[in-house]
Amino acid sequence: MVRIDIISVLPELIESPFNASIIKRAIEKKIIEVHFHNLKDYASNKRKQVDDYQFGGGSGMVMMIEPINKCIDLLKTKRSYKEIIYMTPDGNMLTQKIANKLSIEGNLIVLCGHYKGVDQRVRDELITMEISIGDYVLSGGELPAAVLCDSIIRLIPGVLGDETSALSDSFQDDMLAPPVYTRPANFENLEVPKILLSGNKAKIEEWREEKALERTKKMRPDIFN
Ligand code: ADE
Repeated sequence: MVRIDIISVLPELIESPFNASIIKRAIEKKIIEVHFHNLKDYASNKRKQVDDYQFGGGSGMVMMIEPINKCIDLLKTKRSYKEIIYMTPDGNMLTQKIANKLSIEGNLIVLCGHYKGVDQRVRDELITMEISIGDYVLSGGELPAAVLCDSIIRLIPGVLGDETSALSDSFQDDMLAPPVYTRPANFENLEVPKILLSGNKAKIEEWREEKALERTKKMRPDIFN
């Protein structure tokens, strides 16, 4: 079973996406285990301090190395981890390829950043991978961590049924997904493309490929090759 350990100063901010729908089912089916760790439980002083002023001056607090090191060390004594990931807007941009790779690799630790970020020594010595979910800044790494975990977990074999196969997702073959339709076939004279009602599987597949290509060229010429 794959295990993800999420380290955060606000674990309550990240727990709810794991308590619904596909991820919840994956946890119930014991395909994946997700554990949350409150960094404050690893603080060494009575005030449960996990951040401090930055050396050299400047606004904003910095997450200290000691509690992070203590938490990661403890986890590493219990099992091995494939990657120790830090969520940060200056990390590598999350892509479907990264999600695919992480979904088959093994146990992961995900550290959520806060305040001004973490002491650089954490990034230099403890972290093996830095991931951003986009060129914008959120107030913490919890939502990005939930996004990352969702993108990984749904790809693990057994998590999605055939009806929601991940293989036909956008980006899976550097292509956006084609348009989809459901009943009614005619809504106030807006008709579903006839080909989809024809029952001709080969023609439908051809149509879908053509539409996916059209959509990719129009919306994401940068990924089209
Ligand atoms: N923390 C704050 N903003 C972030 C982002 N865009 N990606 C990952 N972690 C973040």
